[in-house]
Amino acid sequence: MNDSVSTEIISELLSEHTGQQLTESRQWRIGTALSGIYREMGVSNLEALVCLLDGPDGSRLARRVVEALLNNETYFFRDRQLFDILSRHVLPDLAEKRKNSKRLSIWSAGCSTGQEVFSLAMLFAEQPGRWQDWTIEILGTDVSGKVVEAARDACYSQFEIQRGLGVSQMLAFFDETIKGWRPNARLQRMVKFEQHNLLDPQSRSCQIDLVLCRNVLLYFSGDTRRLAFDRIHSALASDGWLMLGAGETVIGQTDHFRPAPGKQNFYEPVQAAFGQSLRAAG
Ligand SMILES: C[S@@+](CC[C@H](N)C(=O)[O-])C[C@H]1O[C@@H](n2cnc3c(N)ncnc32)[C@H](O)[C@@H]1O
Repeated sequence: MNDSVSTEIISELLSEHTGQQLTESRQWRIGTALSGIYREMGVSNLEALVCLLDGPDGSRLARRVVEALLNNETYFFRDRQLFDILSRHVLPDLAEKRKNSKRLSIWSAGCSTGQEVFSLAMLFAEQPGRWQDWTIEILGTDVSGKVVEAARDACYSQFEIQRGLGVSQMLAFFDETIKGWRPNARLQRMVKFEQHNLLDPQSRSCQIDLVLCRNVLLYFSGDTRRLAFDRIHSALASDGWLMLGAGETVIGQTDHFRPAPGKQNFYEPVQAAFGQSLRAAG
C-alpha cells in the first residue's frame, strides 16, 4: 500500500463518519493530527496505521482517527458582532413570538467543547428580568464523542476562558476550581450536550426556535451541505432562525433558507409551497 492509497482510505473514513472532506489542500494536516496516535500505537507512518484498522480493535481506532482529524477550533462569543445581533434583534423577536409559551429551544449543531453553548446561555443570564419564568433549553451536539464529553465536563483552562470572555463575564458566570473554570449553576441549568451527526435525522419531536451551525459546513461537499440544510430545516420552527458562521452563507447552497434582511449571517426558513410539499411527500 502506498502513501496516497492510505491517505485516500483515511479521507474516506472521515467522510463516511462525518461528511467532512479532506481536500488535497488539507491533507498535510493528517500527519500532525495523527502524531499522538502514531506514538501510542507504536507506528511511524500512515500506511502502518491503516493496516491496524483491519485489526481486532480496528473500529475503536477508526473512531479515534476520525476524532483526531476533526477541526474543533472554538472560543467564547466567536464573531462577537453576531452575538450582538442575536441579543439585540433575534432574541427579542423570539421573546415576542413565544410570549405565551415562555419556552425557547435552541440547537448548536457542531458545538465542539461547548463555548458557543455557554456564550448563548450567558446572553440569557445577563438579562434575568426579561427571561425570568422562561424555560430556556440549549442543546449542543457534535459528531465527536470526545468533545461532547469535554463540553459536559465544562472545565476550561485559563487560556480557554480568556479567549473571547471579558474579566467581568468570567467572574460573573464561572467559578474557579483547582482543575479550571466551570460555568455556574445558572448556565448549567440551561444546557445539555449530546453526540449527534448533523447529517442524521433529528430524533427530537419539538420544533427548534433557533439553530446555530457555525464553522461546520465549510468542509462539506455541496451535496452534503444541502443535506445538512435539509436536516436543519426540518428541525426548525417555521418562524425560527438559523445563524451561520461569519464566512458562511446559504446563497447558492439551498432553497430552504433566505437571508434575513439587514441581519448578516442570519437566515429565515422558506416554507415549500403546498404543491411542492405534496410532490416531495409523494
Ligand atoms: C470548527 S468547530 C466549530 C465550533 C463552534 N460551532 C464554533 O463556531 O466555534 C466544528 C465542529 O463541528 C463538528 N462536526 C463536524 N462534522 C460534523 C457533523 N457531521 N455533525 C456534527 N458535528 C460535526 C466538529 O467535530 C467540530 O467540533
